[in-house]
Amino acid sequence: MTGVRRGPTEQADSAELASLLEYLKTHRGFDFGGYKRTSLERRLRKRMDAVGVDAYGEYEDYLQVHPDEFRELFDTILINVTGFFRDQAGWDFLRDDVIPRLLEDTPAEQPIRVWSAACASGEEAYTAAILLAEAVDEEQFRQRVKIYATDVDEDALTAARQGAFPSQALKSVSDNLRDTYFERNGDGYTFRSDFRRSLIFGRNDLVQDAPISRVDLLISRNVLIYFTSEAQARILGRFHFSLRDTGFLYLGKSEMLTAQTEQFTPYNLKWRVYRKVPRGSDRLAIAPQFRFGQAASERYSRLVEGSADVSPVAQLTVDRRGLLAAANEVARDVFDIRAVHLGRPLSDLNVSYKPIELRSLLEEAYRERRQVDAGRVNWSSPDGERVFHVHVTPLYSDPEAGESLGASVTFVDVTSISNLDDRHRAIEDELENAYEELQSTVEELETTNEELQSTNEELETTNEELQSTNEELETMNEELQSTNDELEAMNDEQRERSGEVDRLNLFLEGILGSLGQAVIVVDRDQSIQLWNSAASELWGLSDREVLSQHFLSLDIGFPVEQLKGPIRDALAFQSQSSDVMVDAVNRRGRSFRCRTHVMPLLDSGGDTYGAILLMSEEGKPT
Ligand SMILES: C[S@@+](CC[C@H](N)C(=O)[O-])C[C@H]1O[C@@H](n2cnc3c(N)ncnc32)[C@H](O)[C@@H]1O
Repeated sequence: MTGVRRGPTEQADSAELASLLEYLKTHRGFDFGGYKRTSLERRLRKRMDAVGVDAYGEYEDYLQVHPDEFRELFDTILINVTGFFRDQAGWDFLRDDVIPRLLEDTPAEQPIRVWSAACASGEEAYTAAILLAEAVDEEQFRQRVKIYATDVDEDALTAARQGAFPSQALKSVSDNLRDTYFERNGDGYTFRSDFRRSLIFGRNDLVQDAPISRVDLLISRNVLIYFTSEAQARILGRFHFSLRDTGFLYLGKSEMLTAQTEQFTPYNLKWRVYRKVPRGSDRLAIAPQFRFGQAASERYSRLVEGSADVSPVAQLTVDRRGLLAAANEVARDVFDIRAVHLGRPLSDLNVSYKPIELRSLLEEAYRERRQVDAGRVNWSSPDGERVFHVHVTPLYSDPEAGESLGASVTFVDVTSISNLDDRHRAIEDELENAYEELQSTVEELETTNEELQSTNEELETTNEELQSTNEELETMNEELQSTNDELEAMNDEQRERSGEVDRLNLFLEGILGSLGQAVIVVDRDQSIQLWNSAASELWGLSDREVLSQHFLSLDIGFPVEQLKGPIRDALAFQSQSSDVMVDAVNRRGRSFRCRTHVMPLLDSGGDTYGAILLMSEEGKPT
């Protein structure tokens, strides 16, 4: 035989994938072991490409460092596509055939239990609720219908619990149904709360968790396709356990029952609706040489009778004429049958109608040529209350030829089982009530939690805003402080400079005063810039009166126009100085001969700034 040999890279890849799946199982409780490998690998690759890693090992490292990635990964693997009345014709079949049949088969006082397994965001469960509410009246719906809707994806369940959908999601719901079962909510719709109470959402992993029990209608669509056939077989085994004997399984058109088909029988293949095949009571096979009959040896007859006697199950054998042919030891004890009764018509004995009327059961067994299961019957025996499970089985000389010899009636004592069942049912009811209460508490808690969270988020936002305003104020404060510091520094510098200027002024004034001459400085526009104390003394005008005035506009005892030419020359030619002698009158009215030396004033760059005039007395006027 030749095998496909896998290369070393492929082997390493597969080992890394196994390690990644184990990591997801131990750290997040998700067991993807039962998912079809090819699609699982495709979904994993999609995420790996998105985060930019190439090998499963690297992706495992990435998950360890970035826990947020789990959510993205599960979102990608657990495809949540769903919708109201998805595959409408299948739901029509449910509405027109399955649900009426289910209601017929279920006693009026018995609850109707539905399980939407892998319900995603709940549309499937709400669709089932609408169809059931349409089939029974509102009051019955509230009292009898319980829809358990489960999924492995918590995020999808959170959405499902809210029962709020955008208008677009309801486009496949007729206006009439929409207006009956939904309330307008902003832009969307919310499932009516009085109907909503019959739906219970919870997490259930089809591969790992125990199924919901005593279910009448199990809807599980578009999910088995993700699993390998082994995992499908395990899940179907659980579905079989979950359903009542009269229950229906609705898989939807994408699923095929490839595994364990003997557990379910097709009810409608097109829409993949199945019925449960209840576990039959297997008949004990007896080897031909051990059967009663003419040919059997007496030794074998004794053997079989002896074995019947030690059986813990009470058994009567009736022949075709209705005479009691045999009663084993337990039957004799329990029903007080004595040797005299053997061979007498069964109808003469109490046991023929107590604990159950046997005549009609025998007739049915002969007529139908099959075992009749009379179910459980209660019996108030002298020893107390007992419960028997009664079967009537026709006996044939040859099952093929069909000649009936009589029948066997067995009474299996199920008193303890029945007590246990009652106790079990009571516990289950308690558990269910507790579960429902827990569920509604959890839902309330979740709502409160969400409200708290949103208040908290608002507070956090406000806090952040305040903090950022505060930070801004602090920044501005700092900026102002630094501007202030700069201004103070400039102030200090200014103070220092003006001290220096004052000192220089004093120094200059000292020099100008010590010269003993009137000193006048004009700028290039001949506006007076300096006027020393000797000039004030000479001409009778203080510096405040003359500063910034045009020199030639001065009205003093000096013919100022005589200096027009020399000043212009000093301004025009940098090296031009000249002496001018004129008669003048000082502030006291005394005439004198005045010498004026006019010279150019140069700035530090060597350019002409203006002119300096030095005036002094030179004797009497001419
Ligand atoms: C394509 S949706 C089907 C939804 C719905 N049944 C329908 O047909 O409209 C498949 C759903 O199966 C769920 N799922 C996947 N693996 C699961 C598991 N192991 N147990 C329970 N649900 C599972 C996913 O979370 C997803 O919501």
